[in-house]
Parts: sequence; structure tokens; C-alpha cells
Amino acid sequence: MTMSIFGRVSIAAGLATAALTVSAAAQAQNLVLYCTVQEEWCRVMVTGFERETGIKVAMTRKSSGEFYAQLKAEASNPRGDVWWGGTGDPHLQAAEEGLTQEYESPMNKELQDWAIRQWNDSKKKTIGVYAGALGYSYNTEFMKKKGGAEPKCWSDLLDARFKDEVQVADPNASGTSYTMLATMVQLMGEDKGFDYLKRMHKNVNQYTKSGAAPAKAASLGESLIGITFQHDAVVMAVQGAPVKIVSPCEGTGYEIGSMSLVKGARNPESAKKWYDWALSKNAQSLGPDAKVSYQVPSNKGAATPPGAPNLAEIKLINYDFAKYGSSAERRRLLSKWDNEVKNLPK
Ligand code: G6P
Repeated sequence: MTMSIFGRVSIAAGLATAALTVSAAAQAQNLVLYCTVQEEWCRVMVTGFERETGIKVAMTRKSSGEFYAQLKAEASNPRGDVWWGGTGDPHLQAAEEGLTQEYESPMNKELQDWAIRQWNDSKKKTIGVYAGALGYSYNTEFMKKKGGAEPKCWSDLLDARFKDEVQVADPNASGTSYTMLATMVQLMGEDKGFDYLKRMHKNVNQYTKSGAAPAKAASLGESLIGITFQHDAVVMAVQGAPVKIVSPCEGTGYEIGSMSLVKGARNPESAKKWYDWALSKNAQSLGPDAKVSYQVPSNKGAATPPGAPNLAEIKLINYDFAKYGSSAERRRLLSKWDNEVKNLPK
């Protein structure tokens, strides 16, 4: 790797100085990864990639909306090389706004149709790496103490007995929460969807930054109910937490967790190596093997981990990724949420 890059740089640069050649070769050994799955899974992936390629990874974990905003802020001087994970909508928005780079991986042929659809929708700029359904979980011990019927539907979360008992992320920062916002709009229509979010606001104890945080809060009993992707609550259940996972009776939205190459990246070759590797069966088995990921993998050869929510059994809406991942629609819905929901008195 070092030799071939070194060789190529030397030939291309001809009489380039040794210092320039060395620094280009050194750079090719690095990767700046923007990671938007849970920190534990990010770390497992980084370790696996470093071991396999010898490329050193500098990783930061942030939420989907946060990295979208960061790519935009850094557009004239990109710092990141590859953005791996996080809900598809902000990846689609970044693609539309020219913040990410088109790429056709030799691994595409191994992927599920839904992963390739994301790639086609984005004109080859983002691709599906996993899928998962939205829902909520609650702490069974605290629910028993509270008494009353166990919640089964989205509508149950409006019950006055759940005042300050529901936690969800802020949709500006979190792709999970934006998926919820777009799900309500698609499930109920825009007026009723916003009406639902305003009424639910009365029961929300905190809008977190990270989408998965409410699952942890529910597992610890810090919040009775946490709205997250269902697979995030599975992580808690597998660790022995007293949580029950709900697929809301009305139906629910889902994500195509995505990956994009940053446009103008400083380490484009390393970024492509990560991209191809992250789509492989082996890489997609690392998270499940370490019991830190219960999403459905996009590589057809990678097994869905035992315990993962079965998407075929969940009443999923026909989520319109092209529309809700478009720049204009995502911006419009978020500013409407800021103006009409976020600061409402309780
Ligand atoms: C968790 C989930 C991922 C999801 C991500 C989005 O890590 O396990 O499936 O893509 O959240 O993160 P965010 O913080 O943007 O909601």
C-alpha cells in the first residue's frame, strides 16, 4: 500500500520534492471518519478496519443532522473523508447540496435492493448500509408501578398519565427524531401529524441530541418511555434491561442507514477503501457479532442478527425517502417544528 501509493505519487509528480511525496503517502494511510451509529459500533468498525488495512482512523461520533450541518460548514475546506451511518434523509440532503461525492463500488452487486435504491435516488452519492424500524420502548418495572394499560400505539403516548415520561431526540440534531417527524406527517397527514407532535410535546421530558439516548434512558428508568429505532432498544434488552419494545399499532416509519464519501476529501483513496469494506459481508457482521448492532444489514450475505426486529412483520409505512430527504422539505419541516412545537409551553 505504502509502496504503491509512494510509487504512483513519485511517477506523477516527477521531480516533486521528497517532502511532498512523503506527506502524500503518509496522508494516504489516514482516514477521518464521521460516524453516526452508536459509539460502541463505531469503535468496533474502526478497530476492524485498522486491523485489516493498516490505515489509521480518526473517528468522531455525532448525530445525523449534526454531521449534515458540519459538512455544510466545512464545504470549502472539508475535514472528513467518509460519513458512515445515520439516517438516510440528511445523507440525501447532503447529496442534493453537492456536499458528497458520487461513487460506484464493486460491492454494489452484493447489496439489497433498498440499499441500491438509495444510491439511485441520490445519483450515486449515498448508499444504504442498514435498515431499521422506528418505535418505542418502555421500562416494564416502572410501567407496572404506574399502572394502567400498557401502551401499544402512537396515540397512547398522548395519555396524560405519561406527562414528562416520554423522551425523544431533537429532529434538528437527530436523524431518528426527524424520521419520527416525517413518519407522523406521512402517517396522519401534515396537519394531524403536527397536532400529534404538539400534544406529545406535553409529555416529553427532554429532547436529546442523540437519537438512541432515549432507549438508554428507558432502560435505566430515567424516562418511562423512549422513542428510538427499535433496534436501539434491543441493545438494552439483550444487556438484561427491563424494557419492552413496541411496534406502534398504527404503523411506523423506518430508516435506510446510509454512507457517503465527502466531496473534496483529503484522503479519497482511504475513504473508498472504507466504503468498499463497510459494504462487505465481513464488515457488516462485526457489529452483530459484538452485540452492538441489531439493524438489518445491506449486504445480502450478512445475516440479520438474532433478536433484531423482523421488518417483514412490522407494519411499515411506504416512507418517501426522495421527498423527505430533499433539501427543501427537510428544511421546511424542521423550521415548522422549531416554530410550532419546540417552544410550546407545557
Ligand atoms: C442510532 C441507530 C442508528 C441510527 C442512528 C441515527 O445509532 O442505531 O440506526 O441511524 O441512531 O442517529 P441520530 O443520533 O442522528 O438519531
